[in-house]
Amino acid sequence: MVKNTEINLSTVSRGLKGTSDAVVIGVGQGTDGPVLLDNPLTAKSAEALADSLKPLGVTGAADQLVRLPGLPETGSGVLVLAGVGKVQAGKPLTGESLRRAAGSAVRQLAGLGTVTLAFPTASVEDVAAVAEGAAMGAYSFTEFRSSSDGLKDPVRNAVIFTELADRSDLGAVLKRAGLVAKAVNSTRSLVNTPPSHLYPESFAEAAKDLAKGLPVKVTVWDEKRLEKEGFGGIMGVGKGSTRQPRLVKVEYSPAKATRKIALVGKGITFDTGGISIKPALHMGDMKSDMAGAAVVLNTVLALAGLGLPVKATAWLCIAENMPSGAASRPADVLTMLGGKTVEVLNTDAEGRLVMADGIVAASREYPDAIIDVATLTGAQLIALGNRTAGVMGTESVTGALKAAADRAGELVWPMPLPEELRPSLDSQVADIANIGERHGGMMTAAVFLREFVGKDKAGEQIPWAHIDIAGPSFNNGSPYGYTHKQGTGCTVRTLVAYVEDILAAA
Ligand code: BES
Ligand code: MN
Ligand code: ZN
Repeated sequence: MVKNTEINLSTVSRGLKGTSDAVVIGVGQGTDGPVLLDNPLTAKSAEALADSLKPLGVTGAADQLVRLPGLPETGSGVLVLAGVGKVQAGKPLTGESLRRAAGSAVRQLAGLGTVTLAFPTASVEDVAAVAEGAAMGAYSFTEFRSSSDGLKDPVRNAVIFTELADRSDLGAVLKRAGLVAKAVNSTRSLVNTPPSHLYPESFAEAAKDLAKGLPVKVTVWDEKRLEKEGFGGIMGVGKGSTRQPRLVKVEYSPAKATRKIALVGKGITFDTGGISIKPALHMGDMKSDMAGAAVVLNTVLALAGLGLPVKATAWLCIAENMPSGAASRPADVLTMLGGKTVEVLNTDAEGRLVMADGIVAASREYPDAIIDVATLTGAQLIALGNRTAGVMGTESVTGALKAAADRAGELVWPMPLPEELRPSLDSQVADIANIGERHGGMMTAAVFLREFVGKDKAGEQIPWAHIDIAGPSFNNGSPYGYTHKQGTGCTVRTLVAYVEDILAAA
């Protein structure tokens, strides 16, 4: 179902005159105008080019791309100037500015076959950033087009020009970059797939397909088994649709594992709001309400591909939230997995219902930590905007996630769980209601989820974090950097970096 072409990544340290269609060099936005960054051109060419930047209209702003005829030293390839954004004299570029510049260039150069990226790379991490950016920039989603007229194929080969090309660890670096970008692109494609084609049953099938060839076990609960075993949240949300819900467990369990983590993802393949129906405007964006499940699935697949010594289990809580004669009503009470009762006062607050069951199921296996990922609230967009995910929960986990996101180049921000929010969720008839205080609604939703986090063997709450990706998972603005329109694949990189970090600390 998800077919993504993968870019080939390689490095060279000399011989610019290859068979490349374009040679990309960087321009920074300095305090006194554009700055040509270190590049492999001859000194004479570089000097002439530096003098021409201003009259060419080149500013070095992020996402700027200017194509020039090739020079003798670039062989057949055209010369491309790519903006990397603000630079300060003497300060190295950040990994993320390299990642974005490479991604933006490769994205905008779609239609070309082979592109050489000659950005300054001071470390192996910089090469990794360029490689990741290139592989995430080379993405397109054409599965539902009947004609390729007017479409450009993504770049097929990225050659990274770097002085470090002889380093023996570069093979592993490129392999990691390719695997992580593949997981990001596969997440994007699942999000982009229309709800006519991606529904609970087909999502479960897609998970099995994607896991093929990896040391990963996929188990699917259908509606009969969900009902029988007491998954009241997933059933309560999914029963309004003719397309019945699923729970998918994806386990990577290598013998050498030293840590054990559980990931829970919201997989609402379409969120109409149910009986508490949403307005028509932009409702179509709610095809992306399964982004969390796509993220946790692809994260576990990436961890397996990398062969990391961690036991990682993803729980995909999948349902379609539809209004119908069979749907849950506002005021209905659901009995969740584990027996807690929830009064459903708003059927549009459905994500927390399916996630509660997933968190209870995950808790029963005593993981070292549970991280849940969900497009949970519109309030996330109000609080943190389009591009920054909110992270809430146990401080040891939220802190580690923030550090991992910083390293990975993703935007997340920790938010508190103020104590006064819990009473706002009190119900007149059940243990808890599914809506509470509207102000700070992202945190209210997290306080609801916290009620379902189980205890470890010593009776303490299992360390847990909740990541709300309502905004950053879907780009309904213009493309930028390596980020395309629609599904972004955000949070996969953060979770892979988080696992690497806890393994390094173990
Ligand atoms: N899937 C939505 C949240 C959402 C909104 C994601 C916008 C992406 C963009 C979620 O199920 C929802 O509808 N939440 C409600 C909760 C409310 C009823 C307490 C919301 O945020 O309005
Ligand atoms: Mn909803
Ligand atoms: Zn939703």
